[in-house]
Amino acid sequence: MSAGSATIAVVDDDREMTDVLRDVLRAAGYRVLSAGSGVEALECVRREDPDLLISDLRMAEMGGHQLQMELKRVAPSLPVIIITAFGSIQSAVESMKLGAADYITKPFGNDELLLVVSRALENRQLRQEVKRLRGELARSYGLPNVITASPKMSAVLEMIEQVAESEAGVLITGESGTGKDLLARALHFSSTRREGPFIPINCAAIPENLIESELFGYVKGAFTDARQSKTGLFAAAHGGTLFLDEIGEMPLTLQPKLLRTLEDKRVRALGATEETPVNVRIVAATNSDLEKALAAGKFRSDLYYRLATITIAVPPLRERPEDIPLLVKHFLVRASAEAGKPIPDVEPEAMAYMIRYGWPGNVRELQSAVHRGVIFCRGDKLRVKDLPARVADGGSASARVLEDALERRLSLERLESEYVRAVLESVNGNKTEAAAILQIDRKTLYRKLEETPSAAPSNPDKLEQT
Ligand SMILES: Nc1ncnc2c1ncn2[C@@H]1O[C@H](COP(=O)(O)OP(=O)(O)OP(=O)(O)O)[C@@H](O)[C@H]1O
Ligand SMILES: [Mg+2]
Repeated sequence: MSAGSATIAVVDDDREMTDVLRDVLRAAGYRVLSAGSGVEALECVRREDPDLLISDLRMAEMGGHQLQMELKRVAPSLPVIIITAFGSIQSAVESMKLGAADYITKPFGNDELLLVVSRALENRQLRQEVKRLRGELARSYGLPNVITASPKMSAVLEMIEQVAESEAGVLITGESGTGKDLLARALHFSSTRREGPFIPINCAAIPENLIESELFGYVKGAFTDARQSKTGLFAAAHGGTLFLDEIGEMPLTLQPKLLRTLEDKRVRALGATEETPVNVRIVAATNSDLEKALAAGKFRSDLYYRLATITIAVPPLRERPEDIPLLVKHFLVRASAEAGKPIPDVEPEAMAYMIRYGWPGNVRELQSAVHRGVIFCRGDKLRVKDLPARVADGGSASARVLEDALERRLSLERLESEYVRAVLESVNGNKTEAAAILQIDRKTLYRKLEETPSAAPSNPDKLEQT
């Protein structure tokens, strides 16, 4: 903050003192307001909303400490510098405990005063910046940024809102690209910890032997390469949320230590003799079947139950086709801005293909398809040919079969019969194999092959038997 733009209130019941302060600060370019008492100072703060307040400790009516306490209510983020008499270190300590930004002892030189003032103002500016950035983060990662029109997904969001305030461990499961990361952040920014840090760690992306030191940190000399101490992610997440992504990849050998840290709420860095308390909320995510890993002894059940007090299953995109048009619009806006192109419309046919496609890579795959579409798009419409071949292909062979069945208005029975025959053909007539694929026994298979179903459902009377 340049000196010229900051307003400083000075408070002292000694008029000479406020005059001196005012002259020095004005000469340095600050705007200065003087108050002759604590009561006047409070009034001034309410009216003028200064950036900094400098107060003498000892004043007749309302002392500096009392003023500090009053200010906590009126202007909690206003930094206060206390002027104390030489030698009264105890009262300086008291002021700092009450949250003073700094103190200065009488008598002081002009340079000293100006240094303390600029430091306090800089600090305030930094804090405002952090607050602004956190607000921005919350806006770009909060729940309202999760786009959905699907009841299934809305239920997930509702659940996240409900559990956000609690301290319970939350495990988010779902296929790759369904939005687990996005939801973990939304959870953090909906919780009371939103002002604290959100620290993600991807257990699959870090070599197994480094996960421990990443999580817990180490002290200098803990191992050969530890030339300096390093804070672990647990400590870095203090007051916030630690997001353990791909938790299924957490090495089995490390799981007991992780569990102990969660239970004791204390962390011990590698090579450290002492533990430090940590206040961290854990959110974990996995796209693998943790319960299978549990059964196979690859994941400890005690840790699992600790992490998964609440499990949130994110549905794959194919189970919420309602979301596709909304997500397409959302990604179109982004991709167009990035490509410096006007936002194209989507041809209804192209949209139909996207809704029909199975999206095995879920929202991430859709996002990249739209991105690609914008790059290839000529003119003002996104067309089928702008989509990746697999999408424009009608999605998959099975989608084509269904399309064909729809066109021919096949009955369920007829469709089943055709499918049974096609499967049998695909395994060169091997009935045991066909039965295994269809998950029916051989007897049922024979029966189905013998049946000759009617062709269409709508008006069977008019249809000849085949
Ligand atoms: N509902 C949604 N609204 C807006 N953007 C979304 C939504 N769901 C996912 N995304 C976006 O899709 C991309 C993939 O989502 P994300 O990284 O959260 O998936 P993930 O489940 O963590 O995947 P992985 O298992 O591969 O880690 C991100 O860019 C994310 O912002
Ligand atoms: Mg992820």
